[in-house]
Amino acid sequence: ARVDKAGHKHFMAKEIAEQPVVLGDALRHYLSDDGRNIALDDPKLDFASLDRLTLVACGTAYYACLTAKYWFEQVANLPVDVDIASEFRYREPPVPPRTAALFVSQSGETADTLAALRYCNGRAERLLSIVNANESSIARESDLALPIYAGTEIGVASTKAFTCQLVVLLLLALKAARDRGAMTEDQLADKLSAVRSLPALMNLTLERGEEFRRASNHLAEADHALFLGRGMLYPLALEGALKLKEISYIHAEGYASGELKHGPIALIDQQMPVVVMAPRDALFDKTVSNMQEVMARGGKVLLVTDRGGAEEADDGVWWQLIVPDCDPLVAPILYALPAQLLAYHTAVAKGTDVDQPRNLAKSVTVE
Ligand code: G6P
Repeated sequence: ARVDKAGHKHFMAKEIAEQPVVLGDALRHYLSDDGRNIALDDPKLDFASLDRLTLVACGTAYYACLTAKYWFEQVANLPVDVDIASEFRYREPPVPPRTAALFVSQSGETADTLAALRYCNGRAERLLSIVNANESSIARESDLALPIYAGTEIGVASTKAFTCQLVVLLLLALKAARDRGAMTEDQLADKLSAVRSLPALMNLTLERGEEFRRASNHLAEADHALFLGRGMLYPLALEGALKLKEISYIHAEGYASGELKHGPIALIDQQMPVVVMAPRDALFDKTVSNMQEVMARGGKVLLVTDRGGAEEADDGVWWQLIVPDCDPLVAPILYALPAQLLAYHTAVAKGTDVDQPRNLAKSVTVE
């Protein structure tokens, strides 16, 4: 079917705005009718018989995998390796017994990811994939392909596919926790209710679009930007930097907040905004001291946080953007929207070709 912009200025804006709806669609497919259980009963998704999971992808899908490592390890006590497909395929790593390999790809046609899948064929216990294109090569060649139900994504910079990949990965991690006895039925139901609240929380975040636009007008003046995050928000700092560089052409780097001292702090000056993604979670105090280190050197902090975080953060913060409160487990999915909105509005302010950024392709089917 032909897809149009549905009144939006760009496909990317439309795809950002669609996220509450498509994420809700994905949830309907993967949850029981009462929403209290995960409807994934295929024996190929039995995590009790596994010792290890290997996640492989490229680009934004790779950052979804990095986030999933935190989920699988923390809630299901299942060790996870994550790799970039082009590195994995040529390193030819050993695949230990009782390891499932999971490939994440919006298009299902990325050449490196497909080659990594073929490498695992006959080596891994099972080949699983998470795709948006159900008829794709990666879907066909896996033992089991899980669709993300994001609908056609036209913007080269991935947005709704990313959050839908994340939600499917989170549901898999919660299923793994159930299979491995790492969570009680009540704990699971509690976490699923946090997952089900996401579409509403996303809508609340999108309603604040104008604030993101105003902040972005200032970001657009920078030549360089740094993104910081800790724990589950670290991969999102990488994704935020990727989005910004892809479509606004501002040089951006993502770092784990704790690594600030080990290099990027040398770059801090008034010219380089530091975007900090930090809900007020167990690690928030540590992030506050990182922000103080930035501000003490004249750096400008743009803090994306919740109400609690905004109250606790230092006065010296240059700009604050508030996201609704959420369960820490789902924060990487909700905080994806601020990352996307900042990149989008910055690119619009700079007048770049948002949906077709120079030199980039939607799907990289050749090496
Ligand atoms: C390209 C796209 C990215 C995407 C990556 C992986 O670089 O521009 O948006 O994340 O490929 O694509 P895939 O289809 O495998 O998810």
